[in-house]
Amino acid sequence: TGAITYDPGYKNSGVCKSDITFLDGEEGILRYRGYSIEDLADKADFLEVSYLVIFGELPTKEQLADFETNIRKYTLVNEEMKNIIDGFPKTAHPMGVLSALTSALTAFNPKVVNVENEKEMYEAICKTMGKFLVLATWTYRKSMGFPLNYYDNTIGYVDNFMQLMFKLPTGPYAINPTVVAALDKLFILHADHEQNCSTSTVRMVGSSHAGLFASISAGVSALWGPLHGGANQAVLEMLEAIQKDGGDADKYLAKAKDKNDEFRLMGFGHRVYKNFDPRAKIIKKAADEVLAELGVNDPILAIAKKLEESALVDPYFVERKLYPNVDFYSGIIYRALGIPTDMFTVLFAIGRLPGWIAQWKEMRVNKEPIGRPRQIYTGHPLRDFVKFEDRK
Ligand code: CMC
Repeated sequence: TGAITYDPGYKNSGVCKSDITFLDGEEGILRYRGYSIEDLADKADFLEVSYLVIFGELPTKEQLADFETNIRKYTLVNEEMKNIIDGFPKTAHPMGVLSALTSALTAFNPKVVNVENEKEMYEAICKTMGKFLVLATWTYRKSMGFPLNYYDNTIGYVDNFMQLMFKLPTGPYAINPTVVAALDKLFILHADHEQNCSTSTVRMVGSSHAGLFASISAGVSALWGPLHGGANQAVLEMLEAIQKDGGDADKYLAKAKDKNDEFRLMGFGHRVYKNFDPRAKIIKKAADEVLAELGVNDPILAIAKKLEESALVDPYFVERKLYPNVDFYSGIIYRALGIPTDMFTVLFAIGRLPGWIAQWKEMRVNKEPIGRPRQIYTGHPLRDFVKFEDRK
């Protein structure tokens, strides 16, 4: 088998070849299928970008219409799924519920496990795009004790996210286009990010041929952690804590630098970016615009800006090349849009879904081998067994 390379955290291991996302961490460049993230966030919508990420090309009008129609077709979820949702306490974290529900989908859609041809692949992809969105919003409805809403076939995918989340059983519900435009942009910015923790998890689980829903469910669990997607919730909680504590950003900066303190500046630093995260730049600008358009004056934005300003000139952060990442400003927008804090990571998951699907598809189409890293054994050499009665 030859010498094993020791690379904890896979910091230097390329585990696959991929055509999906180009990322240059030194220069702060991100592209999906060759298109710059700046162009896509500005000129395309989320379903177009999802199509691009998954299938490799920007869709024609016909392709996009067909994609949308097929997603819509599969947004109904088996009614028995509601029994599973009802089994959770209201206090359950939405990411835990979403992971469980996504995995449970396999029971009701066994065909999605073994896709045998292109038609079945397309169907599995559209099913995942449709059902995942609905289930993601149901985690919130459940936590609020609200009745569950269904997909509205007369409006778009992101508009549906809003009505699925917030429409009440009676009375009119108007969708604010500013909110939808902001969410669309945020979803696009999250759509893929090459071999991050959740995506490599999706590929790893999928490499055993476990099936699309099971692989995505594992991706949701991986995303949940505060070092990954859970950082968006953690950032907002950190900013709120700073505000409650008198608004002294420098005090928290000092804590983040203190090696005896576990505290890290959430939303800062990245495994690959050693420069500005290009997504953070776009989101920071969008945060200013969205808050202005909605007439929201959030003092937490000022705290975030102060933290960023101080960190960017602080030798600790400069030497380690720690810059704001995608999660630093996204929570401020979500909050302005009325999204509850514990749903932030669920929104990340909705945005990342096309990336997970695309990477799973690529892995299957390329017939990649099962993921199975090696280790350096550091335990005992062979020992004599000690009988139970002789153990001290
Ligand atoms: N605050 C304070 N110090 C930090 C931070 C931070 N946020 N991030 C890294 N460092 C320090 C770290 O202590 C280490 O210092 P030293 O060299 O003295 O030991 C050095 O910078 C390198 O950090 P690392 O932990 O070895 O780097 P990593 O590539 O293993 O971790 C990271 C990357 C994103 C997990 C980390 O930067 C972090 O914990 N950031 C905060 C959480 C966060 O914002 N996560 C979101 C990531 S972006 C989107 C996503 O994936 O969801």
